[in-house]
Amino acid sequence: MTIFQAPKGTYDLIPPDSAKYLAVREAIAAPLRNSGYGYVETPGFENVELFARGVGESTDIVTKEMYAFETKGGDRLALRPEGTASVLRAALEANLHKSGNLPVKLWYSGSYYRYERPQKGRYRHFSQVGAEAIGAEDPALDTELIVLADQAYRSLGLSGFRILLNSLGDRECRPVYREALQGFLRGLDLDEDTRRRVDINPLRVLDDKRESVRKQLVGAPLLRDHLCDACKAYHEEVRELLTAASVPFEDDERLVRGLDYYTRTTFEFVHDGLGSQSAVGGGGRYDGLSEMIGGPALPSVGWALGVDRTVLALEAEGIALELPASTSVFAVPLGEEARRALFAVVTGLRRAGVAADFSYGGKGLKGAMKSANRSGARYALVAGERDLADGVLQLKDMESGEQAPVALDSAVEEIRARLA
Ligand code: HAM
Repeated sequence: MTIFQAPKGTYDLIPPDSAKYLAVREAIAAPLRNSGYGYVETPGFENVELFARGVGESTDIVTKEMYAFETKGGDRLALRPEGTASVLRAALEANLHKSGNLPVKLWYSGSYYRYERPQKGRYRHFSQVGAEAIGAEDPALDTELIVLADQAYRSLGLSGFRILLNSLGDRECRPVYREALQGFLRGLDLDEDTRRRVDINPLRVLDDKRESVRKQLVGAPLLRDHLCDACKAYHEEVRELLTAASVPFEDDERLVRGLDYYTRTTFEFVHDGLGSQSAVGGGGRYDGLSEMIGGPALPSVGWALGVDRTVLALEAEGIALELPASTSVFAVPLGEEARRALFAVVTGLRRAGVAADFSYGGKGLKGAMKSANRSGARYALVAGERDLADGVLQLKDMESGEQAPVALDSAVEEIRARLA
């Protein structure tokens, strides 16, 4: 029988590499926890309409990439392609916005699913850590989020990323711009698909990567020149606060994101060592999303950082994270009596907070010491019948090779003291 393989566009996280993913999630979450964001977890699937309305009927995510299905009970569901719509849905459902304590600040970490053409950095199952600040319109809040993402990346040692910043305007000025842009785009030589996009979602055309389209876009009207005074002032304030926080950014008037809910501030973190899938994270303000999914007006802002791509960015920069040793002490019993005695010591060590492991499966001394070596343990704890008769265990320093007896009765305290 052939062995099953992970589905196309997916991969497994396996030790020791999997430890990097945990460390990255932790590093992204740490600044959020430290800034008033509470942890939220939502289901892996939702009513398909939530994403159709929230993310946008005309986006690639909804039209091409969603894993949508009908359940046996007749419900139309979709595996979540992103987190923002779900988190806002959960906040509304729990009435968090009525707590009188706005903004509601939430962070999350989980798996997302998009039926995309797989390539390096682009998968059908991937992980994000995200943050959403719901129910406040304040340039300092947009800035806070960008600063926290920057802090997370820097805490991992990353430096090869850039922050691209733009404003997409609001419901006052964007429609005016949209029309001006459509006027321009309709005069270009475009294929049928793209012409359809001009009608439905003209801003996305600005994001077209094909050279044949790109060269025609020179001279396209820019949203920057159409922003209303309120949007302009808001954006200027975000830029000033970022500068004051010493977070460098680049203005990118052509930055449009792949989701329809954005208004005003939008940003992307790109890493130059990643090739075509260079966006390690992105986000922005979505002042209209709550109303789009049936809620009250709740101006909000957030981001999601891709864990997979952040790990690739670490590799591209040659950064080896300092991961905590998984095992400090590895116990090697020689004989049945020693197995019982050492198993008790290992249990005691673990209860005392020392990372300890045990040679299982009745291995001989040579095989067990090999396992001790592989575990990366600082000490091997060896015992045979003679040691037990003397009331001791042999503690071997795996770095220096030195070995010394420790009393069986006080082994846990003594080993703990040595490791500290
Ligand atoms: P997004 O730009 O679609 O935004 O995704 C955020 C990040 O998730 C990307 O920058 C990328 O690192 C990662 N990502 C997306 N798709 C894939 C994929 N197929 N394979 C690997 N990584 C991927 C959002 O999802 C918004 N919900 C962000 C947001 C939160 N906006 C406001 N609040």
